[in-house]
Amino acid sequence: MAILVTGGAGFIGSHTCVELLSTGYEVIVVDNLSNSSEEVLSRIERITGKNTRFYKGDVRDKELLRTVFSENTVEAVIHFAGFKAVGESVQLPLMYYNNNLTSTLILLEVMQEFDVKRLVFSSSATVYGIHNPVPLTEDMPLSASNPYGRSKLFIEEILRDLYISDESWSIALLRYFNPIGAHSSGLIGESPKGVPNNLMPYISQVAVGKLEKLNVFGNDYATADGTGSRDYIHIVDLALGHLKAIKWVMAHRGCDAFNLGTGKGTTVLQLRDAFVNSTGVEIPYSYASRRPGDADEVYACADKARDQLGWEAKYDIEAMCLDTWRWQKNNPDGF
Ligand code: NAD
Ligand code: UFG
Repeated sequence: MAILVTGGAGFIGSHTCVELLSTGYEVIVVDNLSNSSEEVLSRIERITGKNTRFYKGDVRDKELLRTVFSENTVEAVIHFAGFKAVGESVQLPLMYYNNNLTSTLILLEVMQEFDVKRLVFSSSATVYGIHNPVPLTEDMPLSASNPYGRSKLFIEEILRDLYISDESWSIALLRYFNPIGAHSSGLIGESPKGVPNNLMPYISQVAVGKLEKLNVFGNDYATADGTGSRDYIHIVDLALGHLKAIKWVMAHRGCDAFNLGTGKGTTVLQLRDAFVNSTGVEIPYSYASRRPGDADEVYACADKARDQLGWEAKYDIEAMCLDTWRWQKNNPDGF
């Protein structure tokens, strides 16, 4: 059975391709490599011993997508392609709306044309905004405070409208919490361009000596130690959630949201300490001011994914740190 994976060369996409191939699915990737490298595809092949069918190109290119659907029997689509940097989206909103929304609309039009109506979409915990109490449940009110978050919110609405118009669609909206870690082979992992915005890649670049020290954004949050708390989830657990979601879209009709998180919060200092304790590498840090728009504490209620998808996160913070470190030290400059 062939699964089309848009953005399959990216961080989450590459780990998902590995799990799909290892489970016996055929995998077709469309990626324009705007935030990734072709090297990822040979690494996926080294890990799995299997090939992905790769189309280098943009999901907004309708003719390319028609070619992909004509040349392959696609059963379902996992749509990762998009831009994801919150700060950049505030600076370049049109670029974000164009890429994230247009790619989704073109993809949906071509899926409809070829009568492929099973979709797993990469949404984000950012759609809960910052005012809901934790743990976050899928039925809470949604909001967003930046163009990136709004692009996810708009796409969720578009997908709900699509299902209302045609109930033969089956759509899983996966709301990811904070994916970190890397494949245990150390061959694939997160490879951000420039200085990382996110905490774990920042820590691992301090560990490898590329950055001097960690800046801890705020120490007066309403958390155990005053630093921000998030629900970190191992990237392999997240990838496995997509396999469960594929099974769900094959067996159900509907448009439904699922949190993919562990249900546990970890503060910035707790994550930094876990990294130091598990790897033995020192991470110097100092406190800096709060980053605008950051919530005190974000963690999932992951019961719905457990009950309806049959999925639960398995890896702990120590495994997330060790796997991140193996990837970073073997690949100090990423791909
Ligand atoms: P990533 O940047 O590593 O991967 C995205 C991939 O899509 C890249 O390989 C990029 O080259 C490709 N791409 C972007 N626009 C494209 C286009 N128009 N056509 C073809 N390819 C295109 O990001 P990721 O961390 O793997 O995230 C994947 C998805 O999950 C994104 O939609 C992101 O918004 C969402 N998400 C990520 C996180 C996170 O913390 N990483 C959290 C919540 C949601
Ligand atoms: N942090 C630091 N120093 C850093 C980077 C981050 O102290 O150098 C702190 C942040 O203030 C926050 C925590 O570490 O308390 C986590 O920050 P990340 O940037 O790693 O993650 P966020 O939770 O802010 O953002 C992530 C994704 C977004 C998504 C959001 C909501 O990167 O795309 O989760 O789901 F929108």
